[in-house]
Amino acid sequence: MTPLLQVDGLTVVPRAAPGRCLVSDVSFTLQPGKTTCVVGESGSGKSLTALAVMGLLSRQLQRTRGSIRFQGQGLTTLDAEAMRRIRGRSIGMIFQEPMTSLNPVLTIGHQIGEPLSVHLGLRGRALQARIAGLLQQVGIPPERANSYPDELSGGQRQRVMIAMSIACEPAMLIADEPTTALDVTVQAQILRLLDELKTRMNMGMLFITHDFGVVADIADDVVVMFRGEVVEYGSVDQVLNRPQHPYTKALLACVPDADGKKPLLPIDYAWLEQQPATTAANLQHSMSEPA
Ligand SMILES: Nc1ncnc2c1ncn2[C@@H]1O[C@H](COP(=O)(O)OP(=O)(O)OP(=O)(O)O)[C@@H](O)[C@H]1O
Ligand SMILES: [Mg+2]
Repeated sequence: MTPLLQVDGLTVVPRAAPGRCLVSDVSFTLQPGKTTCVVGESGSGKSLTALAVMGLLSRQLQRTRGSIRFQGQGLTTLDAEAMRRIRGRSIGMIFQEPMTSLNPVLTIGHQIGEPLSVHLGLRGRALQARIAGLLQQVGIPPERANSYPDELSGGQRQRVMIAMSIACEPAMLIADEPTTALDVTVQAQILRLLDELKTRMNMGMLFITHDFGVVADIADDVVVMFRGEVVEYGSVDQVLNRPQHPYTKALLACVPDADGKKPLLPIDYAWLEQQPATTAANLQHSMSEPA
């Protein structure tokens, strides 16, 4: 079976400091209808990996090596117009910062409708009905379609982003911490919705999260990133139950168990001491944020 997404040796550096790898030799595969979760401490290169796949790296950054194939087609050699078509229609993305991707002077209904009219040619009543349906699916009353982004709460804006990203029912969804800002009930509702799309549309998901509860719930495979590199990659069962790398073990040890903060696994302190001071702090911080 042709993989939905195949990333091979992806390497990203700052143009100003090409010797410093922010993403280094990253490889993984995503099959249709499957979910790959990417976990790792803050700054480990998760968002840059996602942005590189989308062809949306900022101008200060450069992909120096690596290939990215989507449904068998190389993405790195496509021109801007072809890439834009794929982005709107076949690959959806939920960005980590929703406010940067919503236009403050357009209503949310207009913004959700844009990919539907551009890529699917929907107009008039059919378009309005689809916008209302999408709002309902993400738990926003359809009559809010005429609201502007700054009239909504942070969680509601995040859900508008989710509605936009799945509007065209893409073959692949890249979701960068999509539910972190949402309360648990809404989070569960969104995860169910994504899971339903995954099953109905055979949609593949690349899902960035620091919540191991979510990983256990939705992942088929897990990529563990540390300082720009993949240190562990395997099935969810393998990574959560039989982690091999000291970093994965330390990450899992920071996940509180049902009774509180008791580590589930022994931390390899000898390994941890050889790492930069920020690593221990990051581990504690990134794993203890409320979901
Ligand atoms: N435009 C840029 N120029 C230089 N360095 C950058 C740029 N964007 C990101 N970086 C650096 O690249 C590294 C990886 O960033 P990235 O955003 O991928 O981290 P992340 O794993 O998504 O972290 P978080 O969990 O905090 O979102 C970080 O050290 C970051 O400071
Ligand atoms: Mg990020």
